Amino acid sequence: MPSTTGLESAMAADRPVPSDLPAAIEALRRERNAVILAHYYQEADIQDIADFIGDSLELSRKAASTEAEVIVFCGVHFMAETAKILNPDKTVVLPDLEAGCSLADACPGDAFARFRAEHPDHIVVSYINCSAAVKAQSDLICTSSNAVDLVRQLPADRPILFAPDRNLGRWVERQSGRSLTLWPGSCIVHETFSEQALLELKLEHPDAEVIAHPECEQHLLDLADFIGSTSKLLQHAETSDCESFLVLTEPGILHQMRRRLPGKHFFAVPGLDGCSCNACPYMRLNTLEKVWRCLLTLTPAIELDESLRLQALAPIERMLAMSR
Ligand code: 13P
Ligand code: SF4
Repeated sequence: MPSTTGLESAMAADRPVPSDLPAAIEALRRERNAVILAHYYQEADIQDIADFIGDSLELSRKAASTEAEVIVFCGVHFMAETAKILNPDKTVVLPDLEAGCSLADACPGDAFARFRAEHPDHIVVSYINCSAAVKAQSDLICTSSNAVDLVRQLPADRPILFAPDRNLGRWVERQSGRSLTLWPGSCIVHETFSEQALLELKLEHPDAEVIAHPECEQHLLDLADFIGSTSKLLQHAETSDCESFLVLTEPGILHQMRRRLPGKHFFAVPGLDGCSCNACPYMRLNTLEKVWRCLLTLTPAIELDESLRLQALAPIERMLAMSR
């Protein structure tokens, strides 16, 4: 595993920011034998230097299969933590350690343990947007792209507990026909879209399709023509005959939509009262400068207790094995 001493790291941290950050990142990426993974919600300049861009499931698969020695995870903490769970011998760095997630924060491990104890006969399915402590208490992890398919595969005679996103959970219930006991968490980004603004955009663009992430609230999903994970929204835009789309998810995804489909039109639905709260404040903590600095110093690195890692690994591996 590559490492830097404390002194080297401190000296490296003081190095002035290069004027050509993408070139400096590329040189360090080669030197470190690193792979840069980025979620669609990252800033455009980070997506542009990434080796691979994807949704949570694709990024987990990529993290599981990479041969690089260092994984720079341009996303949020639970994503980098999942990469570390899958790769204990690799160095996994997150450009900003404060890049958390409201869903993971809404489900502390000790409170989740009490919830589980109240439902001892339930199969525990947790959305990947949770801490290692919650994963370790789960039977199966899912992402927004495979949740419906995985729940459909579970034994019909067993009750299911689903955490931590109640909006995703309700959507999975509607799609799978299974009743789920839900943890009451939500995403601060996806709960802020304005129905009023969506309806106004629909009036302006009557031929546009509404495409939505399942973390959105039900009254907005009810207005959607297509619902899916970030990757599935992108794939739908590629295959649909429609030329315009009103997008109900974090607007970082519009960069790839516009890049891959320059002839089509994409409009981000704003938050309530026109606020810019549809941009994930955690994802946006990562910057190109922080990507460069974490490649230089190999910090902040994700570290995990080995017994916790092994407990969290089992339901992730089950997910990867069950995902089609
Ligand atoms: P997906 O990556 O599964 O589309 O989920 C989006 C998300 O909110 C990640 O935090
Ligand atoms: Fe978490 Fe929501 Fe941000 Fe995704 S968009 S990282 S679910 S706060």
